[in-house]
Amino acid sequence: MTTKFLLDESRIPTHWYNLQADLPEPLPPVLNPATHEPVTPADLEPLFPASLIEQEVTTEREVPIPEPVRDVYRQWRPAPLYRAHALEKALGTPAKIYYKYEGVSPAGSHKPNSAIPQAFFNREAGIRRLTTETGAGQWGTSLAYAGALMDMDVQVFQVRVSYDQKPYRRAVMETYGARCIASPSNETEFGRSVLADNPDHTGSLGIAISEAVELAAQDPGTKYALGSVLNHVLLHQTVIGQETMEQMAMAGDSPDVIVGCTGGGSNFAGFAFPFIGQSLRGGESPRVVAVEPSSCPTLTRGQYAYDYGDTAKMTPLTRMHTLGSGFTPPGFHAGGLRYHGMAPLVSHAKQLGLFEAVAYPQKACFEAGILFARNEGIVPAPEANHAVRGAIDEAIRCREEGRAETILFNLCGHGHFDMAAYTSYFAGELSDHEYSDGELAMALSGLPSV
Ligand SMILES: Cc1ncc(COP(=O)(O)O)c(C=O)c1O
Repeated sequence: MTTKFLLDESRIPTHWYNLQADLPEPLPPVLNPATHEPVTPADLEPLFPASLIEQEVTTEREVPIPEPVRDVYRQWRPAPLYRAHALEKALGTPAKIYYKYEGVSPAGSHKPNSAIPQAFFNREAGIRRLTTETGAGQWGTSLAYAGALMDMDVQVFQVRVSYDQKPYRRAVMETYGARCIASPSNETEFGRSVLADNPDHTGSLGIAISEAVELAAQDPGTKYALGSVLNHVLLHQTVIGQETMEQMAMAGDSPDVIVGCTGGGSNFAGFAFPFIGQSLRGGESPRVVAVEPSSCPTLTRGQYAYDYGDTAKMTPLTRMHTLGSGFTPPGFHAGGLRYHGMAPLVSHAKQLGLFEAVAYPQKACFEAGILFARNEGIVPAPEANHAVRGAIDEAIRCREEGRAETILFNLCGHGHFDMAAYTSYFAGELSDHEYSDGELAMALSGLPSV
């Protein structure tokens, strides 16, 4: 009985995989917010180095991973694939459950898979300072770690509600040498304007992005790094799915259903896209399920439309599933799943019918995460609990239907800095929030007309 499927360091992928090469229809263009014409690389140069812009627009199937990036990946990659024997037993399901565990990275999640190459390519372009946003704190921690390795200054705007809930996340960022600021802040024009309207604003990823972009746009020596959503971020995360495919082959199994959680879409894409690509090329074609929170239901209740990526409307317009760039989700604890939009590539794949999406309220997700912890030992991040819930529900369906399917999910991070959320759950203090159609329509009424 094997529990862990481990690959040697030499099996760290040599390329990132680009789903765009296999899509039956190309991604809709990204538009300049002023002219509504397709953006040019020059439009993006104030924010990103040329190498990352090239990765953003390429349709090549494989993008080589530089050796210095693979060398850093060796610290925790290849990440283990586990067979969840104990959870299967607890559920009494005939299904087999496997999970890829990304919590073994120094930051505790999948986020360093992109933080390391983003810092690397910026450093190669002579950039010494990066600004960014963070919701859960996982991305800020990851970029802070990357900044320490690449000798760069990192400034992180952390969404206020998460800054207050997770003081130890900030301490880790500071240990790596980064500066962490609660957003909205007084350090940017946009932050000051938000605080003038509402001094107690709990923040949102859209606002934190606006603040980080504003600083980068003002200084040629500073660039901006985003932890999800963009094509190049999704690309970097595909090391997850590529390793998993090899590990499933080691296990002598192949998945019938694949489950991942979606905030901006990067861990889901990194995990699922290599499988979706295989199926588009005529190979095996498992069902793929994205799980999101009912309190930020981008894929299941958002509109597929052109929208801004940030609240100040500074970013280019992308076609994506959106709740409106002014949407402020409630301060629930899965801080990493609170983005108003979805990665354009994930949205496009959804429109093409390449995967399904479901939404769950947070209490059902904590319940699943606790059952998982009590059987598998790992305490998942609240974001990851959404994938755990999705996988458990598939296993329960298999039990009810008497089917021995193979279920595979991505456990994208551990929850060691999220214990206040678990404590609130145990104290009965968490509530589930569903938006009415009217509330969602109001947030969407500000969509730009394109
Ligand atoms: C552990 C974890 N999972 C998931 C997410 C959601 O991001 P994405 O959808 O880009 O993977 C976050 C974001 O902060 C996170 O910290």
